[in-house]
Amino acid sequence: LESYQRIEDGRLKHSGHDYQDIAKTYGTPLYIFDEASFIERAKAYKAAIQSDYFETDILFASKALLTKAIAKLIAALDIGQDVVSAGEIYLGLEAGVDPKRMYFHGNNKLNSELLYAVDEGVGTIVIDNRQEMKRLEEICVKKGVNQRVLLRVNPGVEAHTHEYIKTADNDSKFGESVFDPAIYDIVQALSDSTHLQFAGFHSHIGSQIFDEESFMKAAEEMLAFAAEAQERVGMKVKEINFGGGFGVYYTEGDEPFQVVDFLPKFVERVHEKGIELGVNLEKVTIEPGRSLVNASGSTLYQVGDLKTTVGGKNYLFINGGMNDNIRPALYQAEYEAILTNKADQAPTKTYTIAGKACESGDKIIEAIDLPEAEPTDYLLVNGTGAYNFVMASNYNSIPVPGMIHINGDEIRATVAQQSFEDMYRTHL
Ligand code: LLP
Repeated sequence: LESYQRIEDGRLKHSGHDYQDIAKTYGTPLYIFDEASFIERAKAYKAAIQSDYFETDILFASKALLTKAIAKLIAALDIGQDVVSAGEIYLGLEAGVDPKRMYFHGNNKLNSELLYAVDEGVGTIVIDNRQEMKRLEEICVKKGVNQRVLLRVNPGVEAHTHEYIKTADNDSKFGESVFDPAIYDIVQALSDSTHLQFAGFHSHIGSQIFDEESFMKAAEEMLAFAAEAQERVGMKVKEINFGGGFGVYYTEGDEPFQVVDFLPKFVERVHEKGIELGVNLEKVTIEPGRSLVNASGSTLYQVGDLKTTVGGKNYLFINGGMNDNIRPALYQAEYEAILTNKADQAPTKTYTIAGKACESGDKIIEAIDLPEAEPTDYLLVNGTGAYNFVMASNYNSIPVPGMIHINGDEIRATVAQQSFEDMYRTHL
């Protein structure tokens, strides 16, 4: 259970709100976002990365969860926004995020997107590759503007959840490899550019990483590369953005480290290694997505039919599934769940939680021990804050569920459940 959840009188409650009442008021399936814990976490990250050595910023990787309400929180929280499309920029702007604090990522940014970003004053564009550099330069020359940029590079450290490996062979679709002999030509071109204001580098070594040392190793590799770039090109590296990827708890066995304890150590290490290598950074940024929002999100479903197969498998069907959470089908991701109205009852049966889409892989949990379930019970899946709502689909013409935010006593709807009209609005 999360800090905001308690069992009272046999029922699970969220900050004192009974999930049964929530279901009756807002319907199911429903995304529920605990705003209080998100705000607290964002503030704690921001404080933990603060440093006397250089300016720092937390950029929320909004691909993990973006709604207008979330974007408004980003604007209010004094953190930046990592965006990966014109759409994400658009919603950030709509909600009042300062474009100067946006970092625009992604491979194959379209010309229309680069134009939009430049026009709207997006603070930093993270260049993915040499062609993009040329395209952006042309746009900036034509517009007569000066655009701050970073270059995304692959430091050759790849994190595989529990350990890191150093790879010379780098086939990533993102960024330019530090092992590419031409990398310093790109750095030189950026440094010489009249309209691109080249500030430094960016790297992101992966997602759902549990090993602090992977980040430390990657940071050291990045600093070593920065030192080399400074020497060969005669530039000054002002900023390194070290990406996101901090792992979170989904099920037993996941042992994430405390980001707030890690950040001060990380900053210290970056500073020390920087001094050793002669890289005097003015700014250090990181862009966590999942770890900022996942634990604040959960999804509430209602139990429908129950079916035991001749093979002895007990299916528990819910009124949502892969449409609102594609992660189990896509990544074999695992989740924990609870019958909110039977929260204090002992488990008696092993269930497979399956959705209602026409797809055998539409399962949320392969095997979970629960009390005897009945139709109309409510099932809550925890840890769905990241990469659930944003990856939802209308497969089978199933509407995307709505979302509510809970902040202590206060509950408010932030996304309405799609209507059929919403789903077909663009059909001509
Ligand atoms: N920065 C960059 C450049 C990234 O590519 C990503 C995630 C992040 C930051 C944020 O990483 P996080 O802190 O959230 O791990 N859909 C997948 C995850 C894809 C991550 C893509 N990049 C999932 O559901 O697990």
